[in-house]
Amino acid sequence: MMAWLVYTLAAFYLVQIVTALDNGLARTPPMGWNDWERFRCNIDCNNDPNNCIGEKLFRDMIDRIASGGYKDVGYEYVNLDDCWMSHERDENNRLTANSTRFPNGIKSLADYAHSKGLKLGIYEDYGLLTCAGYPGSLNYMDIDAQTFADWGIDYLKFDGCNSLPWTMDKGYPEMTRALNKTGRPIFYSCEWPLYQRAVLIKPNYNLIRENCNLWRNFDDINDSWDSVLSVINFYTNEQDKLIAAAGPGGWNDPDMLVIGDFGLSYDQSKSQMAMWSIFAAPLMMSADLRTISDEAKEILLNKEVIAVDQDALGKMGRRVISRGNIDVWCRPLVDGCYAVVFFNKAVGGGPSNVTVTLEEIGFTKTVEKYALRDLFLHRDLGNYNVRGTFVTSVNPTGVVMVTASPVKF
Ligand SMILES: *[C@@H]1O[C@H](CO)[C@@H](O)[C@H](O)[C@H]1NC(C)=O
Ligand SMILES: *[C@@H]1O[C@H](CO)[C@@H](O)[C@H](O)[C@H]1NC(C)=O
Ligand SMILES: *[C@@H]1O[C@H](CO)[C@@H](O)[C@H](O)[C@H]1NC(C)=O
Ligand SMILES: *[C@@H]1O[C@H](CO)[C@@H](O)[C@H](O)[C@H]1NC(C)=O
Repeated sequence: MMAWLVYTLAAFYLVQIVTALDNGLARTPPMGWNDWERFRCNIDCNNDPNNCIGEKLFRDMIDRIASGGYKDVGYEYVNLDDCWMSHERDENNRLTANSTRFPNGIKSLADYAHSKGLKLGIYEDYGLLTCAGYPGSLNYMDIDAQTFADWGIDYLKFDGCNSLPWTMDKGYPEMTRALNKTGRPIFYSCEWPLYQRAVLIKPNYNLIRENCNLWRNFDDINDSWDSVLSVINFYTNEQDKLIAAAGPGGWNDPDMLVIGDFGLSYDQSKSQMAMWSIFAAPLMMSADLRTISDEAKEILLNKEVIAVDQDALGKMGRRVISRGNIDVWCRPLVDGCYAVVFFNKAVGGGPSNVTVTLEEIGFTKTVEKYALRDLFLHRDLGNYNVRGTFVTSVNPTGVVMVTASPVKF
């Protein structure tokens, strides 16, 4: 018994003490906007001036995020993805933005974001070239980190195209050090495990966590339910490894939210928001905030779901029950609370009824009663005994999301 207890405690603390990157950032998962899923590498500013990767698009999004209610609920980073650069470095080997599309340069864009109380993120690649063929950072990490710091950049997404994945255990930490040397805290988002997994290298999540604030481990998300579901399935299958890796300072990245784009139904949009929050994932929108529907916007601005994502305990949730089409996920929160998602994977038919006891979801049994609240209906559901049953009805490809708080007498 004692030996078992000591072993269990040791295992628990080992998981807990894996050090995170020490740059003071990412105490909770980042929230913001990235152009890639919605706008891709559209550089045709002649024919599509409002949607091409250029200054106007980012200024428009900064304006929307600052004044459309997004900043108020926590969205803060506005991130450039691939295709912002000129194809050539300058005479000092520094990167430059495409001067036709960014006539005032990146520094002025960062200043603009900062003037609105937001932060600006940028994209580069660990290899010879970015995925879209622009200059990569290989052999230029110190110069590039310093350039970003000089521009006032707050966040770097560091891709892994056109590089050798078996050199990443050395190479990604080189950029960690280069960023640190600038003295500017810059959020560091890595794609290191994604590229290693692609060539069957087992990612060393301890090392990744010591060097990155965020890490992508699965394919780029697309604007469809199939794509969102494939990400959820990956996170389900790999949950033991991913839960152990995540915590304040560094998080798993299932990629952008596609809520407000073209591919997801209303139920599916709520499902992505709920699952990403249970995963303690970044909430990085990639929709056109100038034309987004009220319905999608309401989901993205759901403060109660966002509070789960941003919970200070920083524990990623776990799938605790899988019964037919229904998966039940549970994430422990501060103060002995829990967030629970009932997820219906069925792609046809009508709503499914689910009956569970709170005990079997894994709630602490020493608490007799929990107060349940529905986070999409914004409604208290009453008090439930830990051994009693809870019944709910879940739409196909949809979710019901609740929080449970101990009832104190
Ligand atoms: C650089 O690293 C040191 C040691 O980990 C840390 O204390 C410091 O805050 C870091 N600075 C930046 C700008 O990230
Ligand atoms: C800037 O982007 C335009 C497309 O919008 C392209 O035609 C031009 O060659 C680019 N300039 C540089 C210096 O890369
Ligand atoms: C998105 O589409 C790309 C290109 O077809 C594909 O390689 C990738 O696996 C897709 N990602 C997901 C998560 O479905
Ligand atoms: C689900 O539960 C509701 C309310 O108890 C009931 O009216 C409905 O018939 C049930 N549906 C199924 C499919 O069992």
